[in-house]
Amino acid sequence: MALNIEDIRTQFPILHQNVHGKPLVYLDNAATSQKPIQVIDALTAYYSGYNSNVHRGVHHLAEKATTAFEESREAVRCFLNAATLEEVIITKGTTEGINLVANSYGRKFIKAGDEIIISTLEHHSNIVPWQMLCEETGAILRIIPINDSGELLLDEYEKMLNERTKLVSVVYVSNALGTINPVKEMVKMAHHVGALVMLDGAQAISHLNLDMQDLDCDFFVFSAHKVYGPTGIGILYGKKVILEKMPPYLGGGEMIKEVTFAKTTYNDLPYKFEAGTPNIGDMVALKYAINFVENIGKENIAKHEHELLTYATEQMQEIPNVKIIGTAKEKIGVISFVAEGIHHFDLGMMLDANGVAVRTGNHCTMPLMSRLGLNGTARASFAAYNTKHEIDVFTRELAKAVRIMS
Ligand code: ALA
Repeated sequence: MALNIEDIRTQFPILHQNVHGKPLVYLDNAATSQKPIQVIDALTAYYSGYNSNVHRGVHHLAEKATTAFEESREAVRCFLNAATLEEVIITKGTTEGINLVANSYGRKFIKAGDEIIISTLEHHSNIVPWQMLCEETGAILRIIPINDSGELLLDEYEKMLNERTKLVSVVYVSNALGTINPVKEMVKMAHHVGALVMLDGAQAISHLNLDMQDLDCDFFVFSAHKVYGPTGIGILYGKKVILEKMPPYLGGGEMIKEVTFAKTTYNDLPYKFEAGTPNIGDMVALKYAINFVENIGKENIAKHEHELLTYATEQMQEIPNVKIIGTAKEKIGVISFVAEGIHHFDLGMMLDANGVAVRTGNHCTMPLMSRLGLNGTARASFAAYNTKHEIDVFTRELAKAVRIMS
């Protein structure tokens, strides 16, 4: 089904503005996606109509807030096809989810000499928590290498797996290059040696159909703001049998059953991992972001973005001096690029001067950039509301910028 992009665009108020006198072309969706009016309205409705704490009050507003909050959890459960609501833990975002697993599961179950595998494609949020854990426990961090196209070397991964491997934590889709990793196969391979698998789903969440039971991963994390939802809210999915064995990460209200000065007993899942008043308004609004995606259909969004990827790639290949970084066979709509002799930051500034928003820098993937021999790239990333006309503007302005600065 072809998307009605004009109809989709009318749902995003932010897109209808000029930047430096030119119509905004927003191609920084991998950093954060824009929010449809339904999400913005849900936030306003919550704060102006039923702002109240959840799971604590008997009054009308508290019940209304609790119902909306838990309905959102159910929407997430469905979206991920998690088996139960207890497996859906509310966090601040992807980074907090990874830190939760590293601190709770990691500190309890990972010991000196154990091995944790990550990959060259990881974002800093899926590197640093494991380095911290390794420093504390004496565990060893191993890194799956990539080829020059930005694809993981599965043979090398297979060789790394052994009885000391306790956890594999890999990115489903690379934020810097767009590579889609063969995670289902990687999960099977890890399980074969008895290791658990955590998937960083930050970039997968708005582009790929996700089914936790089919993927069979042990943990999965994402941030709402990458999937048309608000910032400051995210989800950690974990298999119930594993979450049950894990100690709490943060202590406080909500995560307890009974507190005495002598001893505290902990709440059941998922609340055991949700200390303190949660981010209620943003959680309530997440359901509307999910509805937005489901109403269009993820496969329709993915098809549209893939068309944009192909269209933009073809045009960029024609621009002298521009090189696309990351040419994996399986990619989402993310194109990293450099131009010989021109700093990526200058490219970004020139594009911005013409209304085109792209990201520049190392994309929080310094080790990946170093493997590629770069200090950064410029990156265009696409969403459901982007159009071929916007790609034309982007590539025209890119060609101009490169011509001027070469
Ligand atoms: N991780 C986000 C990005 O790729 C911020 O831009």
